[in-house]
Amino acid sequence: MKNDIIPSKVEIRQLGKVYDGSTSSTPALQDVNLSVEHNEFITLVGASGCGKSTLLRILAGLEYATSGEAYCDGKLINGPGAERAMVFQHYSLYPWLSVLGNIKFSRGLKANRGDITSSDVEAAAGRADALLNLIGLDKVANSYPNQLSGGMQQRVAIARALLGRPSMLLMDEPFGALDAQSREVMHDMILHIHRIEKTTVVFVTHDVEEAIYLGQRVVLMEPRPGRIHSIYPVPLPRARDQDMKHTAPFRELKAEILARIRESSGMATDLELLDKLCAQSSAL
Ligand SMILES: Nc1ncnc2c1ncn2[C@@H]1O[C@H](COP(=O)(O)OP(=O)(O)O)[C@@H](O)[C@H]1O
Ligand SMILES: [Mg+2]
Repeated sequence: MKNDIIPSKVEIRQLGKVYDGSTSSTPALQDVNLSVEHNEFITLVGASGCGKSTLLRILAGLEYATSGEAYCDGKLINGPGAERAMVFQHYSLYPWLSVLGNIKFSRGLKANRGDITSSDVEAAAGRADALLNLIGLDKVANSYPNQLSGGMQQRVAIARALLGRPSMLLMDEPFGALDAQSREVMHDMILHIHRIEKTTVVFVTHDVEEAIYLGQRVVLMEPRPGRIHSIYPVPLPRARDQDMKHTAPFRELKAEILARIRESSGMATDLELLDKLCAQSSAL
């Protein structure tokens, strides 16, 4: 790979992915090119089936590309790596472990296997406490997952992903299962985490408002085959607050992205309804 003066965190070059089935093959991604900068928060948005999860899984090293390549820190991605942590929509916490136990679990496991030493585990315990504070759950460190709300459980899953200090967080619709109010709380929390931890974040969503609120750039993807349609810099100060959703730059970008999704996916009905609701709420 050609090294630029300041190499990007992630370089995706002419990436393609075809899923081969028994009767047909699905071109899930085609000619995807994207650079993600160090410490950037970038969001991928698009209709269902446009390859967002496939792209994220390739970056995580959980799926392989059938053409092109992706690099992280200049190294070809060809499998999972400790510098890349993934957070899914369905947080799979261990029900028999406390909040703290869940956050520290992977370190304990590695120590048992001899990959890391007991002093690493001790350092991880300190880190786990710091993360509990960061996600605002220090008061419930000894509670069990079934005693927590969905939003709290997802915070634990995020803290667990952060334990090994990954330099990149890959998030696939992590708040998709939460109610609107919890999502807003989670949005501000993940922005806070991004500020404090200085991780690079690639965040997948099908929610345009979420994509704009969180992202420094929004990558709009379109389906059949999955590819990048456009990349929009978000014209808002980086320190976000919920009131920004009612400003003209936010509403204009949201309308533009929704119109393009509608144009390219043919999924008019739901999106038109969303548009109307958006227009109604801004008229109030
Ligand atoms: N494991 C798989 N096997 C076959 N086809 C798949 C697989 N995963 C995804 N696809 C197909 O690839 C396309 C992109 O899927 P996906 O990456 O899940 O999109 P998104 O996350 O944007 O909804 C879709 O047509 C989907 O049906
Ligand atoms: Mg998906």
